[in-house]
Amino acid sequence: MHFLVTAGPTREHIDPVRFLSNRSTGKMGFAVAAAALERGHRVTLVAGPVSLAAPPGAKRLDVVSAQDMLGAVRENLPCADALVMTAAVADFRPKSASTAKLKKSAMAGVIELVPNPDILGSIAPIKEGRIFMGFAAETGAPEKEALRKLSSKGLDFICANDVTREGAGFALDTNIVTVYGKDGFREDLPLMSKMDIARRLVSIVEGAAAGRGL
Ligand code: CTP
Repeated sequence: MHFLVTAGPTREHIDPVRFLSNRSTGKMGFAVAAAALERGHRVTLVAGPVSLAAPPGAKRLDVVSAQDMLGAVRENLPCADALVMTAAVADFRPKSASTAKLKKSAMAGVIELVPNPDILGSIAPIKEGRIFMGFAAETGAPEKEALRKLSSKGLDFICANDVTREGAGFALDTNIVTVYGKDGFREDLPLMSKMDIARRLVSIVEGAAAGRGL
């Protein structure tokens, strides 16, 4: 199979020295890429700004903003059988990025934000038979939010985690995840290394792909 994996945050520039972003480090996505390669799959890894080395054998595409990430995903989706969107995409960007450093006196209250495209939403019309897996990092009530996103984003699977739980969330090497599938599938993965979680996610995607003859 060919896995297309997104990882890390996106960065939305305000001016040449400032940006909007989030705490994602890319560890979960890089682990998914490594786990898919371990199983002999091809991997295209679309990475936001992170300081991780790509696993050997992955085709790495570095992007900065949500719009860049959307472009890379759209361009690489046709040859992929599965998309695993671990990226923490910034929901908003400044309406325009200044080419000169803004003076603080010019910034207060004047950075106008516009919504970024929803990457999964934008590519849903060209999904065809591919397996789409998303992530939902929540602070409380992950199940309700995950099930909402599973359906509204047209996903086959969503991996939910409560980032406030000890051992789960950003920058750690461990996570606690529940995977929900659109057909009622549910699997709880207790505190595990991100690498072991990634291995299980790859095997869940493989199972779904086999059921579709991919
Ligand atoms: N996602 C995406 N495009 C965006 C935002 C998120 O494709 N602009 C993807 C993420 O990569 C993830 C899934 O959607 O796989 C859920 O991301 P999340 O940030 O939890 O969803 P939002 O739609 O931003 O929901 P909310 O801000 O309401 O929690």
